[in-house]
Amino acid sequence: MPIMPWSSALELGIAKIDEQHHWLVDRINDLHDELSKPAPDRKVVGDILESLVDYTMNHFIVEEDVFKRHGYPQTEAHLAEHNAFTSKIIGLLDQFQAGTADVGDEAMALLKNWLTHHIMDVDKAYVPFFKDKGEA
Ligand SMILES: [Fe+2]
Ligand SMILES: [Fe+2]
Repeated sequence: MPIMPWSSALELGIAKIDEQHHWLVDRINDLHDELSKPAPDRKVVGDILESLVDYTMNHFIVEEDVFKRHGYPQTEAHLAEHNAFTSKIIGLLDQFQAGTADVGDEAMALLKNWLTHHIMDVDKAYVPFFKDKGEA
């Protein structure tokens, strides 16, 4: 059972962005699947977490590049959300790699809830702007 099933509610109607969001959702589900096993493989968990951090940062750059090129009015607030989440997941990865914290229910809830809220509320808000600027 995926912890975060992909659904049309998560689609913005911008192909390249939807593709990236879908990739992130898939990795969160992969992480959940591995952690649900009787004996999760630490290497697999670390690899998924690392790929999630890398891909998330690249995804944020893709969005922020459009904001900057076209002067998106809500850039500052949007970047604040991206930066706060980036710090959190880097912290999660660092602690996991240092062996000081495991990826548990709390971390999974953070990933799922943050991404759901961010896509459905914060990213969704830029759709008319992106379309207006020919970015969709
Ligand atoms: Fe996004
Ligand atoms: Fe975003």
